[in-house]
Amino acid sequence: MKQAQPSTIYLKDYRQPDYWITETGLRFELFEERAVVHSELQMHRHADSPADAELVLHGVELKLLSVKVDGQPWPQDKYSVDDKTLTLRDLPESFVLACVTEIEPHKNTSLEGLYKSRSMFCTQCEAEGFRKITYYIDRPDVMSVFTTRVEADKSQFPLLLSNGNAIERGELADGRHYATWLDPFKKPAYLFALVAADLEVVEDRFTTCSGRDVLLQIFVEAKDLDKCAHAMLSLKNSMRWDEETYGREYDLDIFMIVAVDDFNMGAMENKGLNIFNTSCVLAAQETTTDAAFQRVEGVVAHEYFHNWSGNRVTCRDWFQLSLKEGFTVYRDSEFSSDMNSRTVKRVEDVQHLRSIQFPEDAGPMAHPIRPASFIEISNFYTMTIYEKGNEVVRMIANLLGKELFRRGCDLYFERFDGQAVTTDDFVACMAEVSGRDFSQFQHWYEQAGTPRLAVAGQYDAEAQTYTLTVEQSCPATPGQAVKPNFHIPLAMALVGRRGLLPLELEGESHGVETVLDVTEKQQQFVFSGVSEKPVPSLLRDFSAPVNLSCAYSRDQLLFLIANDTDGFCRWDAMQQLAVAVISEQAEAWRAGESLVVDVRLVQAMRQLLQDESADRAMVALMLALPSLPYLVDLLDSPDIEALHHARATLRQHISGELQALLLDTYHSNMSDVEYQPSAEQIAQRSLKNACLAYLSLQSDFSAIERIQQQYQDADNMTDKLAALAAMVNSNSLHAETAKQAMLDDFYHAWKHEALVVNQWLQVQSACALPGGLERIKALMAHEAFDIKNPNKVRSVISIFCGQNAINFHDASGSGYEFLADQVIELNALNPQIASRMIVPLSKWRRLPAAQGDKMKLALERIMTSPNLSSDVFEMVSKALK
Ligand code: ARG
Ligand code: ZN
Repeated sequence: MKQAQPSTIYLKDYRQPDYWITETGLRFELFEERAVVHSELQMHRHADSPADAELVLHGVELKLLSVKVDGQPWPQDKYSVDDKTLTLRDLPESFVLACVTEIEPHKNTSLEGLYKSRSMFCTQCEAEGFRKITYYIDRPDVMSVFTTRVEADKSQFPLLLSNGNAIERGELADGRHYATWLDPFKKPAYLFALVAADLEVVEDRFTTCSGRDVLLQIFVEAKDLDKCAHAMLSLKNSMRWDEETYGREYDLDIFMIVAVDDFNMGAMENKGLNIFNTSCVLAAQETTTDAAFQRVEGVVAHEYFHNWSGNRVTCRDWFQLSLKEGFTVYRDSEFSSDMNSRTVKRVEDVQHLRSIQFPEDAGPMAHPIRPASFIEISNFYTMTIYEKGNEVVRMIANLLGKELFRRGCDLYFERFDGQAVTTDDFVACMAEVSGRDFSQFQHWYEQAGTPRLAVAGQYDAEAQTYTLTVEQSCPATPGQAVKPNFHIPLAMALVGRRGLLPLELEGESHGVETVLDVTEKQQQFVFSGVSEKPVPSLLRDFSAPVNLSCAYSRDQLLFLIANDTDGFCRWDAMQQLAVAVISEQAEAWRAGESLVVDVRLVQAMRQLLQDESADRAMVALMLALPSLPYLVDLLDSPDIEALHHARATLRQHISGELQALLLDTYHSNMSDVEYQPSAEQIAQRSLKNACLAYLSLQSDFSAIERIQQQYQDADNMTDKLAALAAMVNSNSLHAETAKQAMLDDFYHAWKHEALVVNQWLQVQSACALPGGLERIKALMAHEAFDIKNPNKVRSVISIFCGQNAINFHDASGSGYEFLADQVIELNALNPQIASRMIVPLSKWRRLPAAQGDKMKLALERIMTSPNLSSDVFEMVSKALK
């Protein structure tokens, strides 16, 4: 039987619901192989809706046991059920609807709704998971006060949690017990959570600015009790920061975090009861890398900040997702910048945006941060909604300045507290406090695609003027062929021999740094009194999410690397230089020629390594060449093999040329002070390990010994894993036996720590040496792999297909066939995870036909496989369109 194709939902069709739910009473009876859910919904009809309006409740994979209205069984001829809805007719104006449904959490591999992660029951309801728990009006503008009673076996599930405060507990027959929770804040169903488990707890307390004493609890397995301190500290720092920075205080007497192994994303901001992927909460020196420590801090903050930007003020509909996500990412990124190094955080965020969001915005799934339509909302938890959304809020904050932005946020939180609103409401608050006109700026919410800014500078020595000509454009994206001009804030400076030059525009002084408002297709800015020929420093601190091009000479790039005062621009100049050198090396390789490497790149790196005053983390970032997947996405019809070869040869060359200096830097950044995940120490380790990676490209025996030494001496996972990665990626003959020995040693030392094993899987999945797919297949057959666990799938399959470009794009097409097989298998188990994995194949149009055609065939095979979920259907059909 051919299934009905999933339908498209449009923002323009938004209407308020015909019925509201004011109170939600739930009772869960949890058993080994089923759960019985009793709901009691206090409902009334919308004042504007007709008296005969039907009540349509969402419900998926539910067994309906009974329906009552105001205590009476509702007659069969007044309701109907299909696989997605329960529809009731002839209802009074206000009433209590009571339903009993049965579900099977132990069979729920989608990890959406109520499911079992190992032995515990937990939930994930955002976006539309609540309908897999009971019949409900499962949309974010329906907000209600929830009372939840959970019943389960007491010895297996001593812990029974839900949102809000525990108001009652007691014993039941047959060794069972119950707990009742009341959340006094009305909320949409997507913020509902329930946990029944046997976990240990780490506790702390926080006193809010108005004196509320809050109990903080992190629930984890007993073996992980020693890995909660960092999350707890991050939580307290977040609570303090939100009070100081936004005047936002926590509003319940208890805040809980529960760590679960099987989770589709990072974490979830359920009111008072956040549920976290273990990877985003657990952290300890021996098991966790610096990057993961920082991720824990960022995700804890992100979910905590949602209490205001998301929960107290929520989204009217899912088209508004970036209202809470873009804003909350902005809030957490500012928090992390305040806690650590601002420049490093900025560069890392831009790197992430450019390497993942820009390609998304240039591909078949491109969508505005406020999409106009979707088939499956789960597909829209994207880099665009989150990270580009962050950039758009950042532009607003910068346009207004600190004080006005804070006033705009205060207005937003006060005016809309307890409501479900839109991105327009957010922008309107910013317009109101500032008196600024945001009508052109609004295009950032409506138009997909990364705008291009082409900038050219011209110096007139005689007139002492410098003219910047700026031209904007935006590539066509699905459904948007031509687009009105954006309002693009272009931060800039002019760099002279002795520093930044004073800026004078139309007789007005702008200091040495300014922001140009680019609003037209083409604009000219004429600076006067420019006493020497400057090099322009453009898009400072990455002032807008655009693709900027300016025909810098390599000498100008070198000049910026050495002299610009903006950390982002210095890093970016190095990136541009590296891209130019790699591209020219790749061209030569294709032509079968050998080309001498441009000495200027090596010279720039040498200067960086010699600069005592430089931020070590920035040096490490600047030493790293652009990744192969980044280059593949950046260039037109890329020759992947040529790029891989060029990049590898260049790294080898740098390693040889700078060997002595790298070795010096390596040794001088060794440290014997006690481990701290502090910005300073992290910077030091990142530089040391960047040197180790370069030095390991030398095939002499001492390079292998150095790796082994670091592996043995390391008292923290950052250094240990850097050594393991260096060994695994070594193609030195000396490494052959040492490699397997180190992998075995690592596995045996850590096989009981799932998160550490995942890192072991990741290092191997990313290894660019030949034979990648065979290694992946072996890893998937290993006892450490489990296709039902998203962290394992990401560690092996997603890393291989997304980061191991040279192996994934093997000329035989075997990587594409492999990925299609995995998507088809996962489609049946976990549609959300299956759908995300399609991204690498969706880029088929950008690659040379030899590869692109094979990728397309793989997509077509997925498309014709049976029982496609709406998630996979949407991704594949859009990729093939
Ligand atoms: N709101 C959560 C967060 O930003 C993520 C929820 C993701 N849901 C999904 N279906 N992918 O932290
Ligand atoms: Zn979020």
